[in-house]
Amino acid sequence: MNKDVTEILPDSASGIARARLLLASGELVAFPTETVYGLGADARNGLAVAKIFEAKQRPSFNPLIVHVADLETAEELVALPSLLKTLAIKFWPGPLTIVAPLRPEAGISELVSSGLSTLAVRVPDHLLARALLKEFGAPIAAPSANPSGLVSPTTHGHVLEGLNGKIAAVFEGGNCPVGLESTIVTTSGEEIALLRPGGLNAETLRSSLGRPIISQEAKTISAPGQLASHYATAAPIRLNAEKPHADEAFLAFGSECEIENCLDLSPERNLTAAAANLFSHLRALDQMVRQKRLAGIAVASVPENDLGLAINDRLRRAAAPRTS
Ligand code: TXA
Ligand code: MG
Repeated sequence: MNKDVTEILPDSASGIARARLLLASGELVAFPTETVYGLGADARNGLAVAKIFEAKQRPSFNPLIVHVADLETAEELVALPSLLKTLAIKFWPGPLTIVAPLRPEAGISELVSSGLSTLAVRVPDHLLARALLKEFGAPIAAPSANPSGLVSPTTHGHVLEGLNGKIAAVFEGGNCPVGLESTIVTTSGEEIALLRPGGLNAETLRSSLGRPIISQEAKTISAPGQLASHYATAAPIRLNAEKPHADEAFLAFGSECEIENCLDLSPERNLTAAAANLFSHLRALDQMVRQKRLAGIAVASVPENDLGLAINDRLRRAAAPRTS
């Protein structure tokens, strides 16, 4: 969606109040963190999260980091194993992102985690970011605020260079002191695994834990769907179906679903709405196939433009032959 004019918000109570309103109405607001500027959306609002991918023009969906005001809020969203909790207590607020099992009742849009059962969370160490999170009172999903494929922005000017007119607002919030994305960790069995090196030195992490950290950088989901743990349906998927066979469930696009076992990504053929519904509809149809013992999921064709590119990327991966 083209916003035409991107508002520049001051680093003040009135700027934060304005950002809160925009976020609450499903708009995108770029804000500084200690690492880089994030492109924020209400993490509970699938349509708002879909706008992130639209504005960044990402050709595929990748899971996003959810920003929260404090550890307590993070624990409402994820179940933190004790080693990760130790790191959170020690390094939050700060440039550390933790990937942990998502609590299904957390209310986070499935588009945020690309349908995964884990969620990436962090508490940024930046006064403005924390004031915004507190004022908004809910988790904010935010990737770096740059168009896909370009470097992460560390000033509001950088954000405007890439996204002016494509997002509702950006804070004029000064430079990001760390200037490098957060370090991402998770657990692997009994160990801590490094998924992405970043602003928090891995050596600092290692010495504070008093144990080695295993490197699993290859498991960082930069190319979603490649990872074995990435959400895939159990049911086989048949793409570009005009209509379902009698024994198939149907993922429709713009057909109102006047048949049985059907869910429509967007009756209005709106790609933003379709992206917001993609993972939850796939999950629901997968369950339907299992419960009704159907043969698989037929999927209507989705246009290959704008967010349709990322939707089709995801659907093709889901339809590809399984390796395991
Ligand atoms: O410093 C930062 O981390 C910045 C600021 C804005 O907080 N954010 C940032 O987000 O760098 P982004 O979207 O550019 O990178 C997030 C990365 C994803 O590409 C993915 O590799 C990883 O985090 N990630 C997110 N959720 C994950 C999950 N459930 N499992 C594994 N990796 C995940
Ligand atoms: Mg990025």
